[in-house]
Formats: sequence, structure tokens, C-alpha cells
Amino acid sequence: MRKKIVAGNWKMNKNAEQTTELLNELIAQVSAEASAEVIVAPTFVNLALAVSQLKSTNISVAAQNMHQAQNGAYTGEISGDMLTNIGVNTVILGHSERRAIFNENDALIANKVDAALSHDMTVIFCFGEELKDRQSGNHFNIVENQLRDGLFHIEAKNWEKIVLAYEPVWAIGTGETASPEQAQEMHEFIRETVRKAFGSDIAEDVSILYGGSVKPDNAKEIFSKPDVDGGLIGGAALSAKDFLAIVNAI
Ligand code: G3P
Repeated sequence: MRKKIVAGNWKMNKNAEQTTELLNELIAQVSAEASAEVIVAPTFVNLALAVSQLKSTNISVAAQNMHQAQNGAYTGEISGDMLTNIGVNTVILGHSERRAIFNENDALIANKVDAALSHDMTVIFCFGEELKDRQSGNHFNIVENQLRDGLFHIEAKNWEKIVLAYEPVWAIGTGETASPEQAQEMHEFIRETVRKAFGSDIAEDVSILYGGSVKPDNAKEIFSKPDVDGGLIGGAALSAKDFLAIVNAI
């Protein structure tokens, strides 16, 4: 069943004290009747703290990345087993910053998806075009290729563990939000691309989040679009006031 989801990707922000402070503000104000599933993704070092602080709430915790191996000589990395072992059962994969800064390609991301699914984790699969792709009219091809090369190898049964997050790179952290019409156009294309590959049931049930400069003043209109099922929020997730306003915009 398609869910409304608002997830906060905190990126490399908030130490332990600041994490506790922000989570306390969210716990105090996220209504138990919130119409959206609320997820927060602190940094690795604060995940266990967040799981503990949120355990009796309806706010869940996601990791921002993970390694595809079960364990071993991978200095600095974190495995899916280590995440599920501390109660983190959702992971963001394929974020544009992982792709651009850390050279994660579609094949590597596909391996990470398999590893996460092998631990029965929910995957928030990120993808999106760069400005040059949109300016050249190639954005639909880029998005379709990222889906096909990073995700479409999975078995149909695993789609219940997939959340899609379309994040046009040119809108991330720039304040240049995609218009509601641009978001709807691409989300409709994404849903149709899933439909062609996996059928209508999976296409209709998958949640497709929009990410890229979602703010309190634009969230309601973006979320009102029929194929937008919520948002993956960056900068605005670091403020309880702004993040709550976005959650309440669903
Ligand atoms: O993963 C969400 C993030 O990339 C969006 O960032 O700051 O544009 O909301 P921001």
C-alpha cells in the first residue's frame, strides 16, 4: 500500500548533544496521528542514540549509507548487519552526493541494494538528473537508466521494501526547487517506468518521494501532486520547526 513518507536526511550534521536536542523537539511535536510516516537519518555515530531516544515513538531511524559487504577489511565502512543489529532497518542508498563525491556508480549501488534487502532492510533509493541533463532534455533517459541499472534487477517480491526518492541534483541544497509541475511530470514518468517493468500493482504501491530544497513554504503544493508521496528533506530537516511544518504539509 502506497505510504506518505517524510524523511529527514541530516547528512554530516548534528553531534550527539545536538541530535538529542533536535529529536526531543520532534518527539514533543510529531503527532501520533501524523498522516505521514516520519523518518530521521542522523549520522552513523548517532544512530544508536536516535534508536534509543525514539523507541517509543512513531518516528523511525534510517542510515544515510552502508557498505555492500557483510564484514571485513573495509576501513571506515559500516555493514547492513551492524545497522540492523542496533535497530536501524532503513537505509538511504544512491544519494547524489554518494554518486558525485564518492564515485558510487549504478553497479555499486545495485550491490548495496542487494545487501540491504538481504538484511530485510527498507531501501530509500535515490536518483535524479543533473542540470545539464535537464537543460539538454535528457533528464528522462538519465532517470530511467539510474532506475534500470541500480534497482530493476531486484525480484518483484522485494518492491515492498523499496521507497523511491527522486532528487534532481540541481535542486539539492540550492533553493532551486523543482516546480510542483516538474516534480509531478517526473514522478508520473517514474511510476510509468516501474509499471512497464514490474506491472501496475507494484507501480501503484511504491512511494515516490521528492527531494531538493523542500521547505515549509513549498511542501504543501509539491505534496499535493498525485504521484508525489512525500519528501526526502535535507537542510530543512535540521530545524525542528521547519521539518515539522513539512511533515504537517502532507
Ligand atoms: O536527501 C535530501 C537532500 O539531498 C535534499 O537536500 O537541502 O535540498 O533539502 P535539501
